[in-house]
Amino acid sequence: MKPPMASTLWPLLLLLVLFLLSFNPGASDTSYDGLVRCLSKRVLPPSQVSKIVYQPTNSSFTTVLNAYVRNLRFNTSTTPKPLIIVTPLVESHVSAAVVCARALGLHIKIRSGGHDYEGISYVSDDPFIILDMFNLRSIDVNIQDESAWVQAGATLGELYYRIWEKSKVYAYPAGICPTVGVGGHVSGGGYGNLLRKYGLAVDNLLDARIVDARGRILDRRSMGEDLFWAISGGGGASFGVVLAYRVKLVPVPETVTVFRVEMYLDEKVNTTDMVYKWQMVAPSTDVDLFMRMLIQPVSSRVQKGKKTIRASVLAEFLGPADRLVPILDKELPELGLKKESCMEMSWIQSVLWWANFDNSTAPTVLLDRAPASLNFLKRKSDYVQNPISKADLQGLWNKLISLGKSGLVFNAYGGRMSEIAATATPFPHRAGNLYKIQHSINWSEKGTDAEKNYLSQIREAYRYMEPLVSSNPRSAFLNYRDLDIGVTTNGNGNDSYAQGLVYGLKYFNGNFDRLVRIKTAVDPTNFFRNEQSIPVKL
Ligand SMILES: Cc1cc2nc3c(=O)[nH]c(=O)nc-3n(C[C@H](O)[C@H](O)[C@H](O)COP(=O)(O)OP(=O)(O)OC[C@H]3O[C@@H](n4cnc5c(N)ncnc54)[C@H](O)[C@@H]3O)c2cc1C
Ligand SMILES: *[C@@H]1O[C@H](CO)[C@@H](O)[C@H](O)[C@H]1NC(C)=O
Ligand SMILES: *[C@@H]1O[C@H](CO)[C@@H](O)[C@H](O)[C@H]1NC(C)=O
Ligand SMILES: *[C@@H]1O[C@H](CO)[C@@H](O)[C@H](O)[C@H]1NC(C)=O
Ligand SMILES: *[C@@H]1O[C@H](CO)[C@@H](O)[C@H](O)[C@H]1NC(C)=O
Ligand SMILES: *[C@@H]1O[C@H](CO)[C@@H](O)[C@H](O)[C@H]1NC(C)=O
Ligand SMILES: *[C@@H]1O[C@H](CO)[C@@H](O)[C@H](O)[C@H]1NC(C)=O
Repeated sequence: MKPPMASTLWPLLLLLVLFLLSFNPGASDTSYDGLVRCLSKRVLPPSQVSKIVYQPTNSSFTTVLNAYVRNLRFNTSTTPKPLIIVTPLVESHVSAAVVCARALGLHIKIRSGGHDYEGISYVSDDPFIILDMFNLRSIDVNIQDESAWVQAGATLGELYYRIWEKSKVYAYPAGICPTVGVGGHVSGGGYGNLLRKYGLAVDNLLDARIVDARGRILDRRSMGEDLFWAISGGGGASFGVVLAYRVKLVPVPETVTVFRVEMYLDEKVNTTDMVYKWQMVAPSTDVDLFMRMLIQPVSSRVQKGKKTIRASVLAEFLGPADRLVPILDKELPELGLKKESCMEMSWIQSVLWWANFDNSTAPTVLLDRAPASLNFLKRKSDYVQNPISKADLQGLWNKLISLGKSGLVFNAYGGRMSEIAATATPFPHRAGNLYKIQHSINWSEKGTDAEKNYLSQIREAYRYMEPLVSSNPRSAFLNYRDLDIGVTTNGNGNDSYAQGLVYGLKYFNGNFDRLVRIKTAVDPTNFFRNEQSIPVKL
């Protein structure tokens, strides 16, 4: 006997199945099809469009996604993944991607080198796609007019290498880690060991090319001075997609000198004296000298099982050792710098030295885009405007020893940094700042328990330092992205202005309002947004 109504149910069931199949299971498939269709209309034959758009089912999707993840905290199965990754090959692809993403209501995250400390170039709590700039990395160095065009997806190492290929006596004053991307680094106000002589990366910009929220490709002249100012340190991702910068090259001598001197608190009575005095000397000494100080809790070498503090001074001097040693003999005798600790080399060799390559490494290593190893990590930042007293340093040592793993990096300011007006670029931390601190913690254990422990350590160190550093606002450095200091949770309305004000004043001080005015003028619908973007003020 036939079940009742079976013959009438079958066609209905079939219809239902067909109806369900016509829906794609994940939102990504429909977004993917829509994006491919839109891009095909705007730029390329579909066969070519499908070469620059990756959906999660693509066997290369994870490889492409992970290729520029630089913090293992964001390499977990629970890290939110993009719906699509777009990898433009030419400028017009970027323009089309912006227009199409906007038309389809897709939230874009822009990634160049992927070094964002909080991973916000490739992670988001909202559904999102990644615009991945790594293919756009050509570099054109012109020694004649002392400039270079460099595309956003190039790394600093590639830029330094291309400059060195053409001249041994030019450089560009940008970051120390060669795998950092130009797009995020420069638009965030990048600094490196030439900052006391030449200022920041953004103090040496001549021109730029961007794609704005309407998909237009603009250069400095067509974008206007306001927008050019904004992307010179205000973070690119709030304003558009940076395609390239034209940078000004700066002269460096044929021979520079570097040194690293380490002092252990429990071995040298002068360690605290040296650190104390460093705070006055490093920001005021000869502008040819940049000194960084690492403060780390380490195992004692003299008392088994005990921890102590190691203070290491790493320096770059734009000149010979003979000129350097007398300067520090006179100004910072507590360091006890000896000529034998100084190493003379070419500027490009000093780039390799700072990146911890041994001295037999050829400069071609700068063309390697992936770092040798990755860690789980968290960074925070502070500015010091008054020297920390010896008693407070002693207290700080005890705190760091008891916490166990959180360290500090001091980067001396002064020199050129103090001559440039705080309003010249969005980066406001100029005269009056002795040095910047990076709070730093690394770990290698997987899992949320380890993460919780290490995050709470660095946060406690940060809380402890509050009375010792800048206040009202407690300033921070945009490129040391730290979501602890405030985030935007709501893309629109006055709420997001109030939220943006919290981190915005810390990163940009008095420049925040101008950034908001420019943002509101160039991207009123807040298409270019992220957890810490510049808000629109309605
Ligand atoms: C190992 C390491 C060393 C570092 N050393 C230094 C240093 O010496 N000096 C220093 O100043 N900083 C340093 N930084 C910080 C670094 O400058 C910032 O993280 C910088 O933003 C990284 O740029 P990116 O393109 O690699 O990062 P990404 O993660 O790709 O981008 C960072 C931010 O910029 C946005 N962005 C990226 N590309 C574009 C674009 N083309 N257009 C618009 N917006 C874009 C992203 O959306 C994101 O908000 C270091 C970071 C690391 C991890
Ligand atoms: C994955 O996507 C890339 C880029 O669009 C494309 O070139 C490739 O053919 C895709 N591979 C597969 C297996 O679909
Ligand atoms: C990232 O995570 C994946 C999956 O757990 C793992 O296979 C890969 O090795 C990780 N990457 C690194 C650099 O550790
Ligand atoms: C300590 O510093 C003083 C200068 O302030 C110097 O004369 C002395 O030699 C130093 N002592 C040690 C042990 O380094
Ligand atoms: C390179 O380093 C080694 C070991 O650290 C050292 O002995 C050697 O003198 C260095 N060479 C140069 C050219 O600096
Ligand atoms: C963390 O690792 C980086 C290199 O990846 C190193 O420069 C830094 O000093 C480390 N920080 C601490 C506190 O050990
Ligand atoms: C935002 O605030 C301004 C006054 O500061 C007001 O005029 C405007 O209506 C507000 N907009 C919204 C969306 O609340």
